[in-house]
Amino acid sequence: MNSFEFNKIAASVLVALLVAMAGSLLSDTLFHSHPLEKNVIQIDLGATNNSASTEKKELQPITPLLASADPEKGKIVAKKCLQCHNFDKGGPNLTGPNLWGIIGNQFAHAAGFAYSQDLKDKHGKGTWDVEEINKFVHKPRDFIPGTKMSFVGIADDKDRADLIAYLTTLK
Ligand code: HEC
Repeated sequence: MNSFEFNKIAASVLVALLVAMAGSLLSDTLFHSHPLEKNVIQIDLGATNNSASTEKKELQPITPLLASADPEKGKIVAKKCLQCHNFDKGGPNLTGPNLWGIIGNQFAHAAGFAYSQDLKDKHGKGTWDVEEINKFVHKPRDFIPGTKMSFVGIADDKDRADLIAYLTTLK
């Protein structure tokens, strides 16, 4: 074997090594990125599925609770709304529309208030009865996805019942 031949062999061994290294690097990358992508997607789907299904099961009709609800306590709960809503007859629209007489009223009831498209779209398609208000106040974005009402919602069933009992008195 002359030195030229030896060099050729050495070079091809080197190339083979490099190819093997590159290959293993590449497969490392592929191997790692695949399970990661999968996990992220699985976690997302899992979380969405769970929350959607449990939330829907959790929210019970409010009507049975209204019999024993206390409007006076509801007035205190309603302080959470005062930042954006006025409750007086003929009162102004603030960040949110005036809410006098809201129970039984049209969706997007206040003429001249700049409602979100999603709430405007509901106008003429029903009224704010106690169950609708219950769903909206529980989680505004679940009931009207594009709503402009940036309010987290009230999780406690009793608080919502008291609040709705108070809103019912505003007429
Ligand atoms: C951070 C401000 C803010 C808070 C706090 C808030 N709201 Fe609202 N509310 C709004 C806005 C803005 C709208 C208009 C929503 C839209 O156009 O999608 C609205 C709309 C509404 C509507 C629909 C009225 C209609 O004419 O269709 C009801 C009912 C309502 N809010 C009830 C409440 C109640 C009850 C509370 C307290 C528990 C509350 N909101 C707290 C800002 C708020």
